Amino acid sequence: MSNRKRALSLAVIGIFFVTTLVYYVSPQRTQAQQQAQIPQTGQSDREKLAKNPPPSGTLKDRLGKDDGYAMTLFFSADIGGNLEVCGCPIRPLGGIARRLGYINAFRQRSPDAATIMVDAGHIFSDETSENGELNADAKLMNDWIIRANEQMDLAVVNLAHRDLKYAARLFDANAVLKPEKSALISANIKKPNLNLAPYTIKTVTAKRLKKPVRLAFIGLSELPPDDKKDAFAKQGFSFEDPLETAKNTMAEIKDKADINIIVGYFKPGTANKLATQNNDLDLIIAYDERGFVHDPKQVNNALILYASHQSKYLGELRFYADARGEIENFTNRYVELDSVIPDDPAMLETTKKARAEIGIVQQRMAEELAAAHAAKGNQTSIYVTSETCAKCHQDEYDKWKQTRHSHAFAVLEAKNRAFDNACVGCHSVGFQKQGFLNIKATPQFANVQCESCHGPGAEHAAKPQKGLYKTPSTPSMCITCHDRENSPDFVFAKYWPLIAHGGK
Ligand code: HEC
Ligand code: HEC
Ligand code: HEC
Ligand code: HEC
Repeated sequence: MSNRKRALSLAVIGIFFVTTLVYYVSPQRTQAQQQAQIPQTGQSDREKLAKNPPPSGTLKDRLGKDDGYAMTLFFSADIGGNLEVCGCPIRPLGGIARRLGYINAFRQRSPDAATIMVDAGHIFSDETSENGELNADAKLMNDWIIRANEQMDLAVVNLAHRDLKYAARLFDANAVLKPEKSALISANIKKPNLNLAPYTIKTVTAKRLKKPVRLAFIGLSELPPDDKKDAFAKQGFSFEDPLETAKNTMAEIKDKADINIIVGYFKPGTANKLATQNNDLDLIIAYDERGFVHDPKQVNNALILYASHQSKYLGELRFYADARGEIENFTNRYVELDSVIPDDPAMLETTKKARAEIGIVQQRMAEELAAAHAAKGNQTSIYVTSETCAKCHQDEYDKWKQTRHSHAFAVLEAKNRAFDNACVGCHSVGFQKQGFLNIKATPQFANVQCESCHGPGAEHAAKPQKGLYKTPSTPSMCITCHDRENSPDFVFAKYWPLIAHGGK
């Protein structure tokens, strides 16, 4: 930035702590639901459990004041191949359609200001199977990420080490899907014949800018964890030290841009070191591997901003220009992407199309796994299902049957996520630990069952002895599933009475 004279105002506004959209699964019942004869305990119970009022305010509130900004940079990270809102839809946040819905409203409100979108990394899913290959559904999810990026004009994508499993194939000569509008960058990831740009310079113009502004984006990734290094080396990737690379690349772009920005996927501390070691740096847009949202921070001449976990909060950095058209300061806010923000209709269509295709692939994968599982013949499990427990604990069983735990899988079917490994673990028993595998292979282990909480019960059921089987400790066991993300309203004292049994 010119003369490095800068009045920096750090405003972290717009974290709206509005919460808890209380709604219930769609009325279209799946076959499984009809068969299961769901007890009607759901709706009113869930409302009683709600801790926070539903989201309030309007889109206009969210947009904030038009305070004369000339340009806005929106930043995201940690999408991990997911176009949709995150986690359980108790209080859904994030999603590409909402993100674009917000940005479009922002653009409409100030069409004479510029906007640009960047992503700091881990945009692709890196879910692999045992043989180390990217899962078929992960690959498809990532293909859809590319399409969505193009659709919304995502200008810059920094590749993190986690992105390489998928991203490497984008550079194949015969790759079908090639990003055209997004620049994929990394300055410190190397591979022979891989034409990965270390940086990109975007020239931004707008009525509110007296002259074009050149933004340089340098991409950097943390080194991969030690246990992944060999696998990367086998694929031909090598990683240079991000701090060293930054210094060299900064020298390379000297005088080529008006604003120098590092976009990076980092472990704690790296961003601070980069700011300290590079005096010409203006901005660092980072994702911290730990995933917390950290407050913006001025270090040396650079402002460090962190993108939020799964981009549930969209980063919004506004630039203001002086009379000569030089950028003189920024303000930053995070916009909570909750249900007040309307979906962009076209992107919502894309998201739905993607979900339908991904659902088909996930179902096919489940069928293949089920066939392989069946081919192994009868297998004993450490789990026996609630039906077995019922033989000796009828009262507890009857009580459980009336709770939503006993049919917790149905909500996934209603959302077309029954084959999604990102969802099934908490809606079943013993996932991938001799219990639930998928709904085709092990339907008996669907739903939250006695053993989801009490632990594997085969031994106890075969030879019940007082004092040997687990009575789980609460609430710590509950929050393995009722975590902040998926059960934001969880308060043990309010939840337990709804499922109380065992005489207490
Ligand atoms: C970490 C555990 C966990 C994961 C992973 C998880 N869920 Fe859930 N889910 C829960 C819990 C706990 C509840 C009950 C929350 C409550 O009532 O407070 C729930 C409730 C739901 C509900 C009912 C919501 C309502 O409005 O009553 C739906 C639908 C749902 N989950 C879908 C999903 C989908 C789709 C995914 C995958 C994207 C998923 N879940 C992943 C734990 C999980
Ligand atoms: C959501 C978790 C959860 C599920 C599901 C669950 N339980 Fe429990 N269960 C608990 C907890 C927690 C306690 C201890 C309650 C306490 O200490 O007040 C308990 C207590 C009990 C007790 C009394 C234990 C004692 O020490 O006296 C029995 C028996 C029992 N459960 C059986 C079952 C059976 C049978 C099922 C399935 C039909 C089941 N539970 C389902 C969490 C669960
Ligand atoms: C064959 C009968 C039988 C089956 C099947 C059975 N239990 Fe039990 N269970 C018992 C008996 C008997 C006790 C001891 C009761 C007592 O003396 O208080 C017991 C005790 C318990 C306790 C109290 C903890 C303890 O060790 O005292 C829990 C919790 C429990 N069972 C849960 C389950 C669950 C969950 C299942 C299914 C996985 C199950 N039981 C299956 C007979 C059975
Ligand atoms: C294995 C994951 C898991 C564990 C462990 C778990 N839950 Fe749940 N719980 C769920 C899911 C999933 C749902 C949502 C089911 C649905 O909406 O269909 C749920 C829903 C509930 C509900 C709403 C039930 C209703 O009938 O309205 C209550 C209350 C609840 N859980 C209490 C607890 C308590 C208390 C504990 C600990 C003792 C616990 N849960 C442990 C997964 C879990």
